[in-house]
Amino acid sequence: MTLTAMRTIASARRTLADRLRQAGIESAETDARLLIAHALGIDRAELIANGERALSGDETKEIDALSERRLRHEPVARIFGIKEFWSLSLQVGPAVLVPRPETETVIEAALDAVVRDARQMEKLRILDIGTGSGALLLALLSELPNAVGIGSDISAAALEVARANAERSGLAGRATFVACDIAAGLQGPFDLIVSNPPYVARGDIASLAPEVRDYDPALALDGGTDGLDGYRAIAADARRLLAPGGKLIVELGAGQEPAVRVLFTKAGLTAAAVRDDLAGIPRALSAAVAL
Ligand SMILES: C[S@@+](CC[C@H](N)C(=O)[O-])C[C@H]1O[C@@H](n2cnc3c(N)ncnc32)[C@H](O)[C@@H]1O
Repeated sequence: MTLTAMRTIASARRTLADRLRQAGIESAETDARLLIAHALGIDRAELIANGERALSGDETKEIDALSERRLRHEPVARIFGIKEFWSLSLQVGPAVLVPRPETETVIEAALDAVVRDARQMEKLRILDIGTGSGALLLALLSELPNAVGIGSDISAAALEVARANAERSGLAGRATFVACDIAAGLQGPFDLIVSNPPYVARGDIASLAPEVRDYDPALALDGGTDGLDGYRAIAADARRLLAPGGKLIVELGAGQEPAVRVLFTKAGLTAAAVRDDLAGIPRALSAAVAL
């Protein structure tokens, strides 16, 4: 695809936004701006200030290449290879889920619990089950200066990305990454266990947005027949792994709170109040060992 109408930065922006809109991409305006700024190596202010500047042939080719990828519904974060999460800039690749803003609700719930117990300066032991890019573990380590943690994942390729993210965030000295099924072989005890497990019911995967279905790894999405397999496995291990007074905090898919509460209760855990995300969806469920 050549964006034939684009002679200047501003016309390229308009043309690309139109094409993205026609392709059903809701964030067309924002994405056009981001992609063109990225292709030209400039920021938003420069993009606007230089709207009438003519594009060179090489710049046009670069914009075309990025545009084609987005028109195939590849997410902007995958095109750039980087996603901001909490205060971190994380590398993302084909082996990992692109961290989502709603997942920050888990961080908020975990930090609330730590602050409530006045434990923020302790050498807390953290486990992040299904760490993917390392998002949850690294965000917590960035906030808790004396904490140490383990990120587990069944995908060795995901763990490579998590290790690279620990390095680029300056947190590698406090983070260890282990390939295992949930927490098999890990001993504990852990003061905080966090997880954003795969939670999409297998039969729903085909109807997800192409940005998710075609680009996030199946391993990061597939939660089994009812979407709850990950929670079952975590619940089965939680009592064994939690330190006295420790907290388990999991991300929930929309509508999963009642079922996960039941699973946790049956596993001998007490689930506390859920924390909503910015859209008002119950998102982070905290639990502790029942007394
Ligand atoms: C929804 S993604 C979450 C990634 C990251 N924690 C985040 O929030 O962005 C789930 C992760 O769990 C991993 N996973 C799937 N099944 C697993 C299992 N049985 N044991 C450990 N990790 C698993 C996937 O490889 C994927 O990285």
